[in-house]
Amino acid sequence: MGKITNALKKAAEERVQRIDKISKIKEMDKLVVQKMGESNVSPNVITYFDPKALITEQYKILRTNFLSLNKNKPPKTVAITSSLHSEGKTVTSLNLAVVLAQSVNKPKVLLIDGDMRRGKMGKYLGVDRTAGLAEVLTGQCSIKDALFQVDIENLTLMSSGEFPENPAELLASDEMKKLLNRVAADFDFVLIDTPPIISVTDSGTVGAMVDGVVMVVQAGRTQRGIVRRAEELLHQAHCNVVGHVLTNIEYHLPEYIYRYL
Ligand SMILES: Nc1ncnc2c1ncn2[C@@H]1O[C@H](COP(=O)(O)OP(=O)(O)O)[C@@H](O)[C@H]1O
Ligand SMILES: [Mg+2]
Repeated sequence: MGKITNALKKAAEERVQRIDKISKIKEMDKLVVQKMGESNVSPNVITYFDPKALITEQYKILRTNFLSLNKNKPPKTVAITSSLHSEGKTVTSLNLAVVLAQSVNKPKVLLIDGDMRRGKMGKYLGVDRTAGLAEVLTGQCSIKDALFQVDIENLTLMSSGEFPENPAELLASDEMKKLLNRVAADFDFVLIDTPPIISVTDSGTVGAMVDGVVMVVQAGRTQRGIVRRAEELLHQAHCNVVGHVLTNIEYHLPEYIYRYL
């Protein structure tokens, strides 16, 4: 078991992530966005809006464990997946990308929305353009033209683009390999959000092309057998699973008890 798994298990035991934190913030969407003035970034990116929140600390623990993987030589290209939809892949990818970009040595982080079926990363980050991964892979646009600087320092986004009819084939193409080689040379970390592994093959395909796969598991929902099946599929696809992230853990004590600041 990887360090991320252990740390998150520990977090789960300590019951330090709270289910209603993100949803509460989501409900306040309009209010928060208006208060933020110029920023178009969604409040779901809690690590950006609330650096002192307990859940932000959890993402920082995830960052620490991620950075210490492989004796402090963490994977450079990483795919994030899960067994099913709505387990928290996108929110995990976003927040991990933000906390990585905020590391002291300011690494250049690229976040790719590899979910060319339902991806909405652009919306979360306030990037309202269509050119993205699909256009790059179909040769309609250059890599450079599909990269968008978001409001968060050192964080660049490539959105999914217009949803194509053949996402699995596009991800399996040589163009995808070329893209990964190119961005791996230009960025310190490349995180790729993907669709769930049980329903479609996409994340297995991408997972085999990157250095590591992080698996998100929603506590209290995803059954053991399903997680096991997902792991099997990733293994069959020759993916290197480097860790697990448990989402949806509830606090049993009020948040202030856990706060140090
Ligand atoms: N750590 C978390 N704790 C509680 N809820 C979460 C967490 N991460 C994500 N969510 C919520 O789960 C829902 C699905 O998240 P999303 O990242 O879009 O899932 P996926 O990409 O796996 O389909 C969102 O409403 C989000 O706010
Ligand atoms: Mg998603």
